[in-house]
Amino acid sequence: MPQYDSPDLSRFPNALIKNEAEYQRLCQWAKDDYEGFWAHQAKALINWRTPFKTTLDEKDAPSYRWFTEGTLNVSEQCLDRHLDKRKNKIALLFEGERGDRQAISYLELYYRVCQTANMLKEEFQLEKGDRVVLYMPMIPEAIVIMLACARLGVIHSIVFGGFSAEALHERIVDAKAKLVVTADGGFRHGQPYLLKPTVDQALAKGCSSVEATLVVRRNHQDVKYQPGRDFIYDLIVNEYETSCPAAELSSEDPLFLLYTSGSTGKPKGVQHSQAGYILWAQMTLKWVFDVQETDTFWCTADIGWITGHTYTVYGPLALGATTLIYEGVPMFPDAGRFWQIIERYKVNQFYTAPTAIRLLHKEGADLPEQHDLSSLRVLGTVGEPINPEAWQWYYEHVGNSQCAIVDTWWQTETGGNMVAPLPAWGGAKPGCAMRPLPGICAEILTPEGEKAKADQKGLLCVTRPWPSMLRTIWGDHDRFVNSYFSDVSYQGKAVYFSGDGALYDQDGHIWVTGRVDDVINVSGHRLGTAEIESAVAKHDDVAEVAVVSCHHDIKGEAIVAFVVLRDSSYDDIELKKSINTVVRAEIGAIASVEKFFMWSTPYQKSRSGKIVRRLLRSIVRKEELTQDISTLENPAIITDLESAVSMTKT
Ligand code: PRX
Repeated sequence: MPQYDSPDLSRFPNALIKNEAEYQRLCQWAKDDYEGFWAHQAKALINWRTPFKTTLDEKDAPSYRWFTEGTLNVSEQCLDRHLDKRKNKIALLFEGERGDRQAISYLELYYRVCQTANMLKEEFQLEKGDRVVLYMPMIPEAIVIMLACARLGVIHSIVFGGFSAEALHERIVDAKAKLVVTADGGFRHGQPYLLKPTVDQALAKGCSSVEATLVVRRNHQDVKYQPGRDFIYDLIVNEYETSCPAAELSSEDPLFLLYTSGSTGKPKGVQHSQAGYILWAQMTLKWVFDVQETDTFWCTADIGWITGHTYTVYGPLALGATTLIYEGVPMFPDAGRFWQIIERYKVNQFYTAPTAIRLLHKEGADLPEQHDLSSLRVLGTVGEPINPEAWQWYYEHVGNSQCAIVDTWWQTETGGNMVAPLPAWGGAKPGCAMRPLPGICAEILTPEGEKAKADQKGLLCVTRPWPSMLRTIWGDHDRFVNSYFSDVSYQGKAVYFSGDGALYDQDGHIWVTGRVDDVINVSGHRLGTAEIESAVAKHDDVAEVAVVSCHHDIKGEAIVAFVVLRDSSYDDIELKKSINTVVRAEIGAIASVEKFFMWSTPYQKSRSGKIVRRLLRSIVRKEELTQDISTLENPAIITDLESAVSMTKT
């Protein structure tokens, strides 16, 4: 097994960072003249309506402001500016799960976005700063509506279609959305599924800000429409003009909100702004993915996640590339579907999650060989640590040992890739995110704010603001400061702490070891333990609950719940099912509990009432217990817990 990748470097003749010297030159430039470095990039990659005056305003730190007094419009960056040179180039390729296809040119996408923007403005009276929630399948209309919002300065907030009515309701209410956009449903696993009834349920819980819903008809299932409230997209959109002036927005106006889990129960509405976000989306696509004019880029992430925002929609379109979306699941009709799509569209960059790689490896290790995947140059991974076996299979069998593997570390909050290998570099190590990108001051620090030594576990922090960082938590700026800027100080200044642990190896390369807070990562989906605990506790038979994660071969991590029962009349299996029914209704299927430990005696709290998650996690992982157990309400229970766990496969 080679320890390092050694892709065919001659396949990256136009890479922007071709070698170590160029990487070092850019890092040095950013170090010597941080603002000059970023100002140069922003001038080169953004078409400004009004040039910015100040590159970085730090006076209200950590409320940083970038490119102030500059004005622009992100939909213009993604559409209008390509119409001269690329109007007939394909902007968006769509493959439906059942094999229906669309190829949409930049000009056609521009027309559709303009029509939709006019409709949002005239039919729904949406104005700059209003919020729209999208609850959509992966279809072109979802992207059209995102860009139409951006055109008007309307803030979109996409809620992943796997979230429940309760979770959707919570997000709609927090964002105070005026409009909810959805579809009748979509197709998954070869079957139609529904979205609109979930929106109806969410709205029935009371969403006083919502004035209307807009429904895209995708699978033509029989869903109910409420006259006066529900509008059918395709019946009205064509009445509108195909040109629509783009609003002149300032660099720091919000572009979108995206809710993500934190360590407390309530999801955080991460707010991104215009200029910094669209700048970094482009820079990272160039640097990390080596996107060239004739390339077809495929990121498999749903638009309900940040990866879908940055690397399916905004980044590729801002660069004038061709982006591909696929509606369905990787396993339909079999584990060869992704490889078939890559072959058909001659995909050049493929970006997916370790969980998908592990699944496709397990279900069809030899299937990539049955397809011509020679168009591929860069293979990306994101969302969770990738295990070396999965990395190796990806490198050898999908990439034919000729592609660069880029293990990209970043987060909803960072807007784009932060630590990643560079394709024309070679030498990426399986499971290692390697080094910070030029301009990004990512450092591993000790809790005391010292730089960690080699092989010493520390906290992954970013010690200088960067353009695409989140600007606030929607409606709760104090939470923004407390969540990200209150744990670690470096050289006397509060710095951004990601919530991840990491270490430097002897070469100074960064290995991300996973979350050190109460967030768990199931199949690359971020979930707060408190969020899941509060869902489990809603079950009538549950007196107390503590949630931790355990290792899972495909999902990376899976959810384990330690439950203290009230008197239960259910049998064991029925009770577990019925608890998971509650969890699905509260959050969604992604939060289902994999393994339960049920007891009738309280055990998971210390005498001060704190849930001892770390201790439980060590028990689940069968690690040696180093924690002090004398503070437990019932220390004698530890032996029972250990023997219960040892009888399971975790
Ligand atoms: O724990 C890290 C993990 O995913 C978290 C961010 O999740 P989210 O905001 O949903 O964004 C996912 C897509 C960017 C991080 O705090 N993570 C992300 N990428 C990696 C990773 N862990 C290890 N290696 C990665 N490459």
